Amino acid sequence: MSKTFLLGGDLSVNRLGYGAMRLCGQPGNFGPYADWEGGKTLLRRAVELGVNFIDTAHPYGPGFNEELIADALAPYGNVIITTKGGVEKTAPDKVFPDGKPESLRRFCELSLKRLKLESIPLYQLHRPDPAVPFAESVSTLAKLRAEGKIRHIGLSNVTLEQVEEAQAIVPIASVQNRYNITERGDDELVYHCTQHDIAYLPWGPLAARPFDREAPLAKAESVLATIAERLRATPSQIALAWLLHRSTNIIVIPGTTSIAHLEENMAAADLSLSSGDLAELQNITPDL
Ligand SMILES: NC(=O)c1ccc[n+]([C@@H]2O[C@H](COP(=O)([O-])OP(=O)(O)OC[C@H]3O[C@@H](n4cnc5c(N)ncnc54)[C@H](OP(=O)(O)O)[C@@H]3O)[C@@H](O)[C@H]2O)c1
Repeated sequence: MSKTFLLGGDLSVNRLGYGAMRLCGQPGNFGPYADWEGGKTLLRRAVELGVNFIDTAHPYGPGFNEELIADALAPYGNVIITTKGGVEKTAPDKVFPDGKPESLRRFCELSLKRLKLESIPLYQLHRPDPAVPFAESVSTLAKLRAEGKIRHIGLSNVTLEQVEEAQAIVPIASVQNRYNITERGDDELVYHCTQHDIAYLPWGPLAARPFDREAPLAKAESVLATIAERLRATPSQIALAWLLHRSTNIIVIPGTTSIAHLEENMAAADLSLSSGDLAELQNITPDL
């Protein structure tokens, strides 16, 4: 099983990355992450442990999550920062899609500035805006790509049909949707991405709700715990290892605010699941 994936055909990414969203605080937070220095230490530790792919987005903060990443890691070396535009946050409880061409351009310019980048390696449409034709949003990203402001284009929170529609406009390098051992509604899209060399970035890989970790992985708890005990691992590690085994184009971006959890999650890259383990895990969702 390869530990890396060639994103967009030219960026070598370690398949166990890091999702930085949690480094912007609790729901309703509006402003910088409270433990700014701790956040920087965690990001640097992630890189030390081999992370070279970090996911962020304009509304995380808003903006402060990107600033924190730049403060900790710019000029980045071989670390690939991916961000998203297309969701705006104007107040603690005001978060909404905005995929208008002029808005996407503004989000992209803001991200370039905050991340201290001349070109964003992977820029993702955060979610389709029902008020804007999808093709119009995708075409705007295609223009930003042609201008060199972004290198590759990704899509998030999209359907298979939308991915196909976008592929007819411009090459798509990644898809980021919610997917994990207990939520496998995207199996068909994962397959499509595999067939087209598109990276698939499952968000919520540990089944956490964006700002709530109540009953995570509950549906899978006993199976995960049994396999974890056998492999001297933790249930979270088994859930991450399952994603890495699921398909070689999957890049996992677990989020954490804890260095102990970060270290635990990174160690999942070294776990080898047998075909027996995988069959047991498959049974968690026998309906699929
Ligand atoms: N595209 C989108 O719309 C979208 C939406 C949501 C998220 N995302 C991206 O996906 C990334 C991952 O998603 P996520 O952070 O929501 O969910 P997740 O990775 O499934 O879970 C993160 C949660 O699990 C906890 N956790 C992490 N490692 C753990 C471990 N080893 N043991 C026990 N608990 C652990 C974290 O708490 P601690 O801090 O205590 O470790 C945190 O509450 C985000 O950071 C973000 O970059 C994208």
